[in-house]
Amino acid sequence: MPIDEITQRVSDRYAQAASTGEQMCCPTSYDMADLQSFIPEEVLRISYGCGTPAGLKTVSHGETVLDIGSGGGIDCFEASRLVGPTGHVIGIDMTDTMLAIARKNAPIVAANLGYTSSNVEFRKGMADAIPVIDGAVDLIISNCVINLAPDKRKVFREMFRVAKPGGRFTISDIVTDQPVPQYLVHDAEKWGNCLSGSLTLTDYIAGIVGAGFLGIHLLKFSPWQVIDGIHFFSVTLTGYKLPAGAAVSAVRYATLRGPFSRVVDELGTTYLRGIPQPITPEAVCLLSQAPLVSHFVLSSGPQWLDRADDRWTAVYPADAPCLWQGHFAMLAGPFVEAADDDHHVYRRGEPLEICSKTLKVLEADGYAPHFAIINRAGQSVSGDAVSCSPDERGCC
Ligand SMILES: C[S@@+](CC[C@H](N)C(=O)[O-])C[C@H]1O[C@@H](n2cnc3c(N)ncnc32)[C@H](O)[C@@H]1O
Repeated sequence: MPIDEITQRVSDRYAQAASTGEQMCCPTSYDMADLQSFIPEEVLRISYGCGTPAGLKTVSHGETVLDIGSGGGIDCFEASRLVGPTGHVIGIDMTDTMLAIARKNAPIVAANLGYTSSNVEFRKGMADAIPVIDGAVDLIISNCVINLAPDKRKVFREMFRVAKPGGRFTISDIVTDQPVPQYLVHDAEKWGNCLSGSLTLTDYIAGIVGAGFLGIHLLKFSPWQVIDGIHFFSVTLTGYKLPAGAAVSAVRYATLRGPFSRVVDELGTTYLRGIPQPITPEAVCLLSQAPLVSHFVLSSGPQWLDRADDRWTAVYPADAPCLWQGHFAMLAGPFVEAADDDHHVYRRGEPLEICSKTLKVLEADGYAPHFAIINRAGQSVSGDAVSCSPDERGCC
């Protein structure tokens, strides 16, 4: 399908959905009772997101927030409440029917929040040509939209352009564990349903990093659908446009605390747990961001850590047989590569088959926030049939 045709079909699909109030799309987990206290039902019933990017404690008072593909405005209105009357929210969408509903409800939400005027505006525009000036936005949010855009790399570049230096994004979207084949890519119905346009997690994050954002990491993961063996799942990712020019800092070294035994950051530097690594001012800035900062000791002089040190963290696998039950783990940041204490090397976005022991390790604090885990077994697996002993060669 040519790009113009994809865009037109997606817009028609959402115009129709907005008119009929049809239920669509994916896992979100909004607190609807809370939102109903200030957002009209007309907006809530056309919520077509796959996450809650404004509701994950990401929005701060007084900020300028941009919502790409704002639809009926649900996340803009939640952001409106969170930024307060001194903040500003801009929603952009390409579909007139969506914009009309969002604009109609903006003054109602403002009145419900006790604001003298609305702090939300809705602009007509495309995700890959955002109608916002350079460097204007503290926080970019988006909820199940970028998968619908034909040129996602252009969208990511636009996000980087409009973000303030020191700004950030939190986006929920549908991604996959493997490339979507052409017979699905050219299925217009599945494009509109947030499936066919989805990128692999690897390509999605690569596009964001390619645009200039750093410190990309996972806030939330929810499985959604499996079609012809392809896992479609929702992720909420966040990351930073680091300030231009590094701040003056006494920090010169970073020592990895764990639980990973080795990591590679997005600037290409490798860190081994417990061993101080000299770092550049740019790396100081990157490693000072959450959640990276919790993985390191940052210091002005070299600091070694050993197992006896309280700051050393590790999660070791149980001394028990492995059961292969169909699980695959995908590292979703904040590192491009990371190793655990059982010789597994995780590369960002790439599914790695793991056994039951490793699953337990990755479900532990320290690891769990950084992994999306799927199960590719088509039917229930007989654990005994596939178990192996830790002593046997070839086991995990
Ligand atoms: C799945 S809905 C999500 C709407 C809203 N974010 C929510 O959570 O309810 C996708 C929305 O993005 C808009 N959209 C899709 N592709 C777009 C693009 N390339 N540029 C601008 N808006 C787009 C559609 O018009 C629709 O309102």
